[in-house]
Amino acid sequence: MGDVERTEFDLSGAGSPGPARPDRPDRTDRTNRTDRGNDALSDRMLPGDDDSELSLRPRSLTEFIGQPKVRGQLDLVLGGARARGVVPDHVLLAGPPGLGKTTMAMIIAQELSTSLRMTSGPALERAGDLAAMLSNLMEGDVLFIDEIHRMARPAEEMLYMAMEDFRIDVIVGKGPGATSIPIELPPFTLVGATTRAGMLTGPLRDRFGFTAQMEFYDTADLTAVVTRAASILGVDITGDAAAEIASRSRGTPRIANRLLRRVRDYADVRADGAITVDVARAALLVFDVDELGLDRLDRAVLGSLVKTHGGGPVGVNTLAVAVGEESTTVEEVCEPYLVRAGMIARTSRGRVATPSAWRHLGLEPPEV
Ligand SMILES: Nc1ncnc2c1ncn2[C@@H]1O[C@H](COP(=O)(O)OP(=O)(O)O)[C@@H](O)[C@H]1O
Ligand SMILES: [Mg+2]
Repeated sequence: MGDVERTEFDLSGAGSPGPARPDRPDRTDRTNRTDRGNDALSDRMLPGDDDSELSLRPRSLTEFIGQPKVRGQLDLVLGGARARGVVPDHVLLAGPPGLGKTTMAMIIAQELSTSLRMTSGPALERAGDLAAMLSNLMEGDVLFIDEIHRMARPAEEMLYMAMEDFRIDVIVGKGPGATSIPIELPPFTLVGATTRAGMLTGPLRDRFGFTAQMEFYDTADLTAVVTRAASILGVDITGDAAAEIASRSRGTPRIANRLLRRVRDYADVRADGAITVDVARAALLVFDVDELGLDRLDRAVLGSLVKTHGGGPVGVNTLAVAVGEESTTVEEVCEPYLVRAGMIARTSRGRVATPSAWRHLGLEPPEV
């Protein structure tokens, strides 16, 4: 198999036994639209997501709660393309983990009534990995590359041409005998997601027609997220309990959903299954989530910064070692919210604790 499919490409210059093109995945995996690659990643950073994640994902722009700005912008980008009957520009989704980037990528494909192909930056180690992905696309498909800033350089360079000209050159062989085989690609839309927009190279960033910056959610929107998830999961929850969970979710729907599941466990085992505000508070106490939503890792980072390093400035690597985490986790998962909550300031010399950080840990901030 596979030989038949090759004929659909213009492999000019390739003789009949020809150099083999990079392996491409079996076409049947197109129908297998789960997000395995991505889940492996997000699980590493935020353990606790389980299968119900899929059923909790909103499926259309109107079902998507919050992010009014991004929703409005995307509505225009997609609507404009649809009206002109063309494939929309490439879209970059930027923002901290758990804010809905993967969900949004799925919605984009849904809104365009096309299929979604998913992969992630770390999976694209060689240019051939990307070539396999690209040569498998059909016209109008959405290709989603999660954690796109972690793509290997040769793959990234191949992507430039693919994004701009819908064409790639596949190099086969090594040394003087190497040949470059041009492959035409059908027009497609690349949707990239990144937790570190700043780490994207200029050339890659420039090739996106639109960057959607996802923001942390406010408590009202997160309350709606919790209420919606509870009704999908068939959990009985009061309005103020939903608000309580929302206010401790660090502006992040993934955390809101996870806290809801833990509170549900507590309600099932220690109460009568219904989630009242008292049940929610008791459950969150058991799971070490404080009033601001800081969990053990956040508090460990703050504690190290304040108690061991006198409030800083201290480098993120030092903090990460002190709490036994990877520095990327501290930088991408803990820090954005601690900065937003006004606990940490990023300075050129390192991280500095603000007076609220000291007070949150029950300490007196030093005199300035
Ligand atoms: N706007 C939203 N409304 C409801 N649920 C959301 C929303 N955004 C994200 N979620 C939920 O949060 C979880 C994480 O979303 P995801 O798209 O995987 O985030 P990211 O890819 O940015 O890390 C999913 O379970 C999803 O259902
Ligand atoms: Mg994701």
